[in-house]
Amino acid sequence: TWSMAGFRAAKIAEIREQVGKEKVLCGLSGGVDSSVAALLIHEAIGDQLTCVFVDHGLLRQGEAEQVVSLFREHYHIPLVHVDASDVFMAGLAGITDPEKKRKFIGGAFIDVFEAEAKKIGGARFLAQGTLYPDVIESVSFTGGPSVTIKSHHNVGGLPARMNMALVEPLRELFKDEVRRLGVELGLPPAFVGRHPFPGPGLAIRIPGEVTKEACDTLRKADAIYLEEIRKAGLYDDIWQAFAVLLPVRTVGVMGDGRTYDKVCGLRAVTSVDGMTADVYPFDSAFLSRCATRIVNEVQGINRVVYDYTSKPPGTIEWE
Ligand code: XMP
Repeated sequence: TWSMAGFRAAKIAEIREQVGKEKVLCGLSGGVDSSVAALLIHEAIGDQLTCVFVDHGLLRQGEAEQVVSLFREHYHIPLVHVDASDVFMAGLAGITDPEKKRKFIGGAFIDVFEAEAKKIGGARFLAQGTLYPDVIESVSFTGGPSVTIKSHHNVGGLPARMNMALVEPLRELFKDEVRRLGVELGLPPAFVGRHPFPGPGLAIRIPGEVTKEACDTLRKADAIYLEEIRKAGLYDDIWQAFAVLLPVRTVGVMGDGRTYDKVCGLRAVTSVDGMTADVYPFDSAFLSRCATRIVNEVQGINRVVYDYTSKPPGTIEWE
């Protein structure tokens, strides 16, 4: 019978077999998937693994610090922390189309990796935390003939020029299984239970052009929302909760002045695997509290709305 301990042992053997004595580079995104993949691979091949954490400036508040300390200090896994936020922000200037954002970010990731791979001295393999739903959603949509809904940038292989083979030990797993594997590998439950976060990060939560200023504004609103969710004890009941920042300005009033600022959307859904999702039914007092705090505490936002769309017909992310 299938067990997580059995899966772990089998994958470790498989990774050793695939990799031999070669070096592996693993892209850490800060999320659960790539962290679990990295731990599993580290268990298999030790310091043949180097993790590269590309900070694209599109992460949530405090996320970069958490990842670096978990890997370097807690697990003593070699970790290269690349702050590439200027490169990503400059490249995103003027891009408003969601798929173009993904393509640019995916491409820039590969460029940074390629540069790191060279510095490390020729890693033959690249590890990724690709899950089963990533594989199928990127290929086609079950409702019709091969329509790509969103091109997840962590799927689809690598440009031939990199000449690296992929190690993707989580390709058969769903999210809940990855979490169980994470616990099995000794990751702190609070880390394993974190909500999924997309590779393109805040870029796909800012419809329209992405700027550093918009990212900073969104990070603040998102942190308040998540803090309220944690305080209310709801975090673990929710699959994903996040704020989005709309490129729309509306009129408001604060003190005796008129404001003309952006709209913040709040999203929270329940789901088993991210393929379908239901809206989380917060009570209105909770939503009012979030709206009041965000408008009072975040400069540049004067209106908050709650997204009541399930998936389908909506997607979880707004882009
Ligand atoms: P959607 O928005 O397609 O999201 O309903 C389903 C799940 O996938 C995540 N997501 C992404 N993850 N790269 C990723 O690594 C992406 O481009 C991407 N787009 C969406 C989303 O956060 C949700 O968990």
